[in-house]
Amino acid sequence: MKAGTEPDLAAPEYRETSLEGVDHIEFFVGNARQAAHFYRTAFGFDVVAYQGPETGVRDRASYALRQGDVTLVMTAPLTPDGEIADHVRLHGDGVRTLAFTVDDAFAAFQDAVSRGARPVAEPHVLEDQRGAVRLATVRTFGDTVHTFVERAEYGGSFLPGYRDEFKGGAGAGLRLVDHCVCNVELTRMDEWVSWYNRVFGFDVFQEFDESDIATQYSALRSKVVRGGREGRVTFPINEPAKGLRKSQIDEYLDYYHGPGVQHIALQSEDIVESVDWLRRQGAEFLRAPDSYYESLPERVGPIDEDMQRLRELNILVDRDEHGYLLQIFTRPVEDRPTLFFEVIQRKGCRGFGKGNFQALFQAIEREQEARGNL
Ligand code: FE2
Repeated sequence: MKAGTEPDLAAPEYRETSLEGVDHIEFFVGNARQAAHFYRTAFGFDVVAYQGPETGVRDRASYALRQGDVTLVMTAPLTPDGEIADHVRLHGDGVRTLAFTVDDAFAAFQDAVSRGARPVAEPHVLEDQRGAVRLATVRTFGDTVHTFVERAEYGGSFLPGYRDEFKGGAGAGLRLVDHCVCNVELTRMDEWVSWYNRVFGFDVFQEFDESDIATQYSALRSKVVRGGREGRVTFPINEPAKGLRKSQIDEYLDYYHGPGVQHIALQSEDIVESVDWLRRQGAEFLRAPDSYYESLPERVGPIDEDMQRLRELNILVDRDEHGYLLQIFTRPVEDRPTLFFEVIQRKGCRGFGKGNFQALFQAIEREQEARGNL
């Protein structure tokens, strides 16, 4: 075929922002060295990269941790001023950045901003001898941000500027971010659902209201938005609903001083093994009432796992029309009752444990009451 008769492959074409998945989750914390040690020993993560004064960075120290496809970054301020110190003073330790892997960070940023996202960092390139990574950042709920990471050919462990540093964790069988849950203020849930729809093309995948998620005292509403390649990015968005007493979402908003990430759910390939190991390492989990396990066989039907073992480890089970899931929730991982983790194993089920909300809420309320916040 002669030149000029070929289709023009270079012609610009409008396309949806392509989010490949969650690239990493960065926490701003008071003491990153200790936080990294906690996630390494209690959760089994490897420390894979570091930046700080030794690498020429003057204002922060950051540790990148990895397990399976999950990358967490712990960043602490080295000065009393600046965005990291401000974030920690207001929110305590918490999630600052939910980063997405993209194939074109500049396009993803321009796309998001043209659809109403507020820019935080214009597209820029970080480089070292191992290659280049293109990054750009936009703001989302509260002080949380989304960073687009285009790491095409980068050969280092995390990002340019970090030096590779390996301290092995034992591994807890955690392999993937299943979903990240955001708490927002009363009446703001629908605004953020439409924000994710407008900016990233996310659709509402499931929703829950007070009739699904309520106990005698407190209630919440939740809509689950999902998008990105093959629906790899899932964000349930919660708001408090009116109950007799304070919703757990209100308690979070009070202590976090605004909206933020409530929990990160990590998929395990074998939740019984994972939770057994995590418990022995000192991870602390919420306890379901004993009555939960008495009605469980009737509620979920036959499952592969030994019910007695699930009861000992306090693992919860739920079923939908596609299969079942096993899940468990940690207690908050800071002194403030804010961020916690979920460990989840899916055996076909696409839900989020609706059948466990009641038992879970009761467990959370027992803890809220012990803190004097119910
Ligand atoms: Fe969850």
